[in-house]
Amino acid sequence: MLKLVPGLPHGWPLLGLISALLLAGAGLAYGLAGGDTAGLRAVIRLTARTSLVLFLAAFAASALLRLAPAAPTRWLRRNRRQLGLAFAVSHLIHLAAIVQLAGRDPALFWQLTTAGSIVSGGLAYLVIAAMAATSFDRSAAWLGPRAWRALHWTGSHFLAVSFIVTNAKRIPASAWYGLPVALVALAVALRFAAALRRREPAAPGLELQREL
Ligand code: HEM
Repeated sequence: MLKLVPGLPHGWPLLGLISALLLAGAGLAYGLAGGDTAGLRAVIRLTARTSLVLFLAAFAASALLRLAPAAPTRWLRRNRRQLGLAFAVSHLIHLAAIVQLAGRDPALFWQLTTAGSIVSGGLAYLVIAAMAATSFDRSAAWLGPRAWRALHWTGSHFLAVSFIVTNAKRIPASAWYGLPVALVALAVALRFAAALRRREPAAPGLELQREL
């Protein structure tokens, strides 16, 4: 495979590396917080944040390449599928820690969440599962390009809104939760700007780049 950024892993080894780092980070966060429910809460918070970073990388990859073509943005776009799957792995760890917490301390669990959040969060997990399952050549071919684009466009925007809502509702507890909200809004704006640029008439010689 073409090495676009020397030294950086690509493709499936990249997914393996990020997954291993996520598991190691979760184990470390659990241990450093003293294990038990405090450890599980640390894992939930950590994976909410790693999920956001990985989601943003996959969500903004094409727009960044269109707006600023360079080696790093080419690397991002070429590895978009693996970054999206790494986001799914991160959120799976989020879910595993949530299930553990609910089992270990149901009273604390219901203090931290509501039935409404479980319904909207559950829907987000269905979307993540559908997008992850159709992120392989064979499953994507089975779905067909039109349905694939519809699922991944709608799904990714639903997830963007989910990240905005889950972070924005915590702003009263800490203004820092405004940062992820701003980052997701910026990613949506970048995608919009890239879509506008796509409609501009092509400058001679740029057609090849536009195909990426
Ligand atoms: C059934 C589904 C879900 C449940 C039950 C759930 C539960 C929780 C709980 C209990 C916390 C608080 C942990 C603590 O403060 O100790 C939390 C944090 C969080 N969750 Fe989830 N979650 C779900 C799905 C999601 C989804 C789909 C997203 C995003 C798309 C998300 C994003 C977040 C964020 C941003 C935080 C705050 C992390 C921080 O403090 O930085 N969650 N979740």
